[in-house]
Order: sequence, then C-alpha cells, then structure tokens
Amino acid sequence: MEIKTYLIEQRQVVEDALLRLTPEATGPFARHIEAMRYSLFVGGKRIRPILCLAAGAAISESAESRSNLLPVACALECIHTYSLIHDDLPAMDDDALRRGKPTNHMLFGEAGAILAGDSLLTWAFDLLTNPEQSSLSAAQQLAITHIIARASGPLGMAGGQSLDIACENKVFPFETLQTIHRSKTGALITCAVQAGAIGAGASAQQTEDLVHYGNQIGLAFQIVDDLLNATSSTTELGKAAGSDAVHGKATYPAYFGIEGTRARAHDAVEAAKTALKGFDEKAEPLRMLADYIYTRTS
Ligand code: IPE
Ligand code: IPE
Ligand code: MG
Ligand code: MG
Repeated sequence: MEIKTYLIEQRQVVEDALLRLTPEATGPFARHIEAMRYSLFVGGKRIRPILCLAAGAAISESAESRSNLLPVACALECIHTYSLIHDDLPAMDDDALRRGKPTNHMLFGEAGAILAGDSLLTWAFDLLTNPEQSSLSAAQQLAITHIIARASGPLGMAGGQSLDIACENKVFPFETLQTIHRSKTGALITCAVQAGAIGAGASAQQTEDLVHYGNQIGLAFQIVDDLLNATSSTTELGKAAGSDAVHGKATYPAYFGIEGTRARAHDAVEAAKTALKGFDEKAEPLRMLADYIYTRTS
C-alpha cells in the first residue's frame, strides 16, 4: 500500500476514535470542552497515534489488540495537542496560526487555552486508565500509563520545552540541542511506539528494537520540523514559517546548515529502519512511516 493511502485510512481510524472518546461540548463546561475539541479536531497529521497503532500491528494483527490500542492512540494525540496549545501561547512561542487555523488562545483567550491544555492532558490519563475502554491487562495499562507520563513530564516533553525556552538567543553546545529535540519531541514519539508494542504483547527484544526505532524517528521528526521552519512557507505548514530564526531558537539548521541538517535527518531515518531488521512484513507501515518523516512537506 502507498503511504498516502495508508495515512488517509489511518487518520480516519484515529479521527473516528477521537470523536467517540472525547467529551461532548454540552452542559456547564460546554465552552471549555469546545476549546479542547477545537484544537483536537482542527486538523493535524495524527502521526503519534498512527505510530502507536502501527507498532501494535507490527507485533499482532488481531482486532482485539487494535481496538485495545485506540484509547492509547487517542491519549497520545490529546497530550500532543495540549503541548501545541501551550507551545503557541504568548508566554511561549507566541504563535497565531496552527494547523492552518487561529491558535487556541486567539479564539478562547489565554486562560481558556491554558485550561483546554490542562484538560487534554488530564483526559489522556482518564482514557489510559479507564477499564471500560479496553481488555488490556492491569499490568499493561499500568506500564503504558507510566511510560506516557514519563515521556510527557519533567524528564520528557515539558522538560524539553522548558530547555527550549531557556536556550532562546543563547549559545550552547550541540549536546544541549540534541537533549532539547529528544525530550520536547522525541520522547512522546518514542513512547507512542513503545506503548503500541506493550499493548500488542511484544517480547522484551521486540520492545527494545521498537524503542530504538522510536528514538531515531523522534529525533528525525524534530530535525525535519526545524528544516521545514527554515525552508517552507506558512501556507504549506499551516503554522508560521521562519519563526525559529526570529525567536533565536536552538535548531539543527543553525548548527549544520540546510544540507547538513537534511543529511542528519536521513541518517536517523535509516538507523530507524535498521532497528526493524528483525521484523517481518507486518512492520512495513513502520518502515514507510520512517521514510514519510523524512520526506514530509508539512
Ligand atoms: C508539531 O508536531 C510539533 C512538534 C512536536 C514538532 P506535528 O508536526 O505532529 O503537528 P500536527 O499534529 O501535525 O499539527
Ligand atoms: C514543538 O516544538 C514541541 C512541542 C510542542 C512539544 P516547536 O515549537 O519547534 O514546534 P512548532 O514548530 O511550533 O510546531
Ligand atoms: Mg516551541
Ligand atoms: Mg512552536
């Protein structure tokens, strides 16, 4: 199957699950829930939930395994969307456009956007721990919840975001840049793959290989984000192009130039595919997704 067709199909699966598993905007909190739903359904590539489902499918193609992973996939998209809403706030990257539409705070105000983010993060853990949503064992649920919490918090995404802000307009070693990329973006992508593996009953060796794959594509994903910020247009990206330079952000192009950056993203994607060498054709979507992360244009 072509990656394009695969992505269209998988996005639909994720959208349907998100619609089913997100609270309705009615009752006393209607406006608050509307703010959550606005950012969640305004678009997005859904790459983290798709990676989670693809990692699961690389281990098991059973319908039960797939349906067990849907709430996990949705939880990952909720956390990612929360991170974007907060990332765009005036106190952070101060962006007015996201996913081709006004950012959350432009429509719901700063307090509304902060709270929408808070609830998306919290709802993710509601989904992950709700025993009615899946037939995963308690041990699997606990393991998945723990890795997602770890990847989102002070040692993962939130920690990385704080370092990203602290390093604006500063000179620092390349190792710090790598730490920022691995934590602010890589951690959640790796844990999406790992959660899929755990939910589908992967062996320790399979999980280790998939974590290695996740680490490499997670890094590649943010390198390409830097590259697109420097080389693409606001219309194509659906978010402000050129903003990293304006904000004095720590990026790969600032260190390695455009071609050097492209080469590093390519190397990471090749290393990711090498990590899958012990897997059969069920891992083909993961291989295609790795290539897509390098070739994507938005
Ligand atoms: C953008 O993520 C922010 C980063 C972590 C690099 P995506 O490129 O996955 O954004 P959406 O979900 O498609 O909008
Ligand atoms: C986003 O990093 C990372 C997270 C939201 C966790 P950036 O600030 O570089 O991403 P964009 O370019 O705004 O999507
Ligand atoms: Mg940012
Ligand atoms: Mg940003």
